[in-house]
Amino acid sequence: MLEKVQEIIEEVRVFKTSKPEDVESFRISMLGKKGKITALFNEFKNVPADQKKEFGRQLNLLKKEAQEKVNLLKSSSDNNKDGEQISSDLTIPGQPYNLGTRHPISIIKNEIIDIFSSIGFSISEGPEIEDDWHNFSALNFPENHPARDMQDTFFISHDLALRTHTSSVQVREMESKKPPIRTISPGRVYRNEAISARAHCFFHQVEGLYIDENVSFGDLKQTLIFFTKEMFGEDAKIRLRPSYFPFTEPSAELDVSCTICSGKGCNVCKYSGWLEIMGCGMVDPNVLINCKIDPEKYTGFAFGMGIERIAQLKYQVNDLRLYSENDLRFLEQFKKANF
Ligand code: DAH
Repeated sequence: MLEKVQEIIEEVRVFKTSKPEDVESFRISMLGKKGKITALFNEFKNVPADQKKEFGRQLNLLKKEAQEKVNLLKSSSDNNKDGEQISSDLTIPGQPYNLGTRHPISIIKNEIIDIFSSIGFSISEGPEIEDDWHNFSALNFPENHPARDMQDTFFISHDLALRTHTSSVQVREMESKKPPIRTISPGRVYRNEAISARAHCFFHQVEGLYIDENVSFGDLKQTLIFFTKEMFGEDAKIRLRPSYFPFTEPSAELDVSCTICSGKGCNVCKYSGWLEIMGCGMVDPNVLINCKIDPEKYTGFAFGMGIERIAQLKYQVNDLRLYSENDLRFLEQFKKANF
């Protein structure tokens, strides 16, 4: 019996063809209902008990090898439909590769990185699973702040959660480096939100941080004007509205003049002419103290923006779910923006 298996293995190994119909008849002759290998499986019951184990093992190997051979022959005959040998004319132009495209989130992230790198910001990253200290406490969130609530945060344990913002990387940078610190931190963040066109349970942010002696609100404003013009064009205008974040004082929200109607008023900017793109402010002295930086000597500014939001304004994508559905019809539209 074992010799029979060996014989068929040999037969499988030496078999060659490039014609699809021959591959199919080979498959039938081996693995079909009346095929040789199927017949051996039917013999199994007649094999003496002490040989069953080895026979079964060999038989399975044979079946696997035959199946692989069929697959291999099939795919090479598919590539060579006419059954001809691969052309030896090496001057024939090659088949062009179908290049993929960058994801719009990556395109915008890289643009933001390029803009801030050009004015001396480094790039830093931190973990997506974060402890309470880096995500909340060090950033001056009061113990009972609603953002710590189960509603917004995906908790992993009492002390660990998926980070809700990239501001956690600010803390890590300040803890591990001495000023001057000038860094941006792109990354993914998570919030416990129902998924809809306007909200998602994960999205992307870029955090910015500048700590040095004599850093002022004026420096923040100039930096953000520079960024906005680079990102949205020379004509883009900004305005800063007072706001509140636990980790900055004073805090502001930055609006850019509507990229669709240039400030004239349309349904994207809800006829206000302005679109909110980020939060920012002067780093609260409590945060500096938490990170062992002397607030008497150093001051700093911070800002945080959503990458999806910027991509939405640049590409007029109005449904956040499109970014993570992997629909090629959506993704291929960014082909030109790649290079
Ligand atoms: N972390 C804030 C958020 O997720 C964004 C933010 C606002 C970051 C103000 C900052 C800042 O650094 O200064 O909504």
